[in-house]
Amino acid sequence: MAKITIHTLLEMKQKQKKIVCLTAYDYLTAKILDEAEIDLILVGDSVANVIYGHSTTLPISMNEMISHTQAVARAVKRALVVGDMPFMSYQPSVDIAIKNAGDFLKAGAEAVKLEGGTAVLEIAEKLIKFGIPVMGHLGLTPQSVHKFGGYKLQATSKDSQKQLLIDAKKLENVGCFSLVLEKIPKSLAKTVTKNLKIPTIGIGAGPHCDGQILVWQDMLGLSEMKLKFVKQYANLHKIISEGVKKYKEEVKQGIFPNKEHSFEDDKSYP
Ligand code: KIV
Repeated sequence: MAKITIHTLLEMKQKQKKIVCLTAYDYLTAKILDEAEIDLILVGDSVANVIYGHSTTLPISMNEMISHTQAVARAVKRALVVGDMPFMSYQPSVDIAIKNAGDFLKAGAEAVKLEGGTAVLEIAEKLIKFGIPVMGHLGLTPQSVHKFGGYKLQATSKDSQKQLLIDAKKLENVGCFSLVLEKIPKSLAKTVTKNLKIPTIGIGAGPHCDGQILVWQDMLGLSEMKLKFVKQYANLHKIISEGVKKYKEEVKQGIFPNKEHSFEDDKSYP
């Protein structure tokens, strides 16, 4: 089982092998994803929504992101682990970005992700120069939700499509190893993918990207989010709900715990 590195991802693009990515925020989930040979695991700032119940990703802190990154990194043997730099952990200055990106790598991430185009070029370039691989993120960048006025489809005008392609090229030129394209028309994602040497990873960007990423709680039906770009591969909400109700009934009726789940006082147990 060969370890996935940023170079593996570049080779996968060259060989036209799709790159499969998911988010994870905890040890047990990361272990399952890694055992299933998911290529890239993103400790996404979507943890703010999914785990902490915030309505945006903005409130999540560096400390919280580091703690989740450590948990994920402890579980992962094969996948590339990417830490998602939270809101205001890189925007204020290059120095702040270097310190925080460094903390992600110390926590076990092998790369960081930044949202934005031209505005983050200098920061991305500096991090890469210091040996910190950077993944870009264009299109619907959730940290700019208030600028966008919601989680709408992005790059719908000719001008904004041109700009996105320019930004993608610039991010590639400063050395980003891949690029997330979120919620943009599939034709634009196709053009960007064709024009870049680095892999594009789509989420709501259609089938032509070099890889795909989803939030696992959406994809496995835990979050109950109904999103057009998400296919639901299981209904974990239902499975958990049924299990919890059965447990409740059995405790109430005195069925659980029974002899099988109880200790005798004359035996030694591990
Ligand atoms: O935080 C996140 O989950 C992301 C996505 C690309 C899935 O940024």
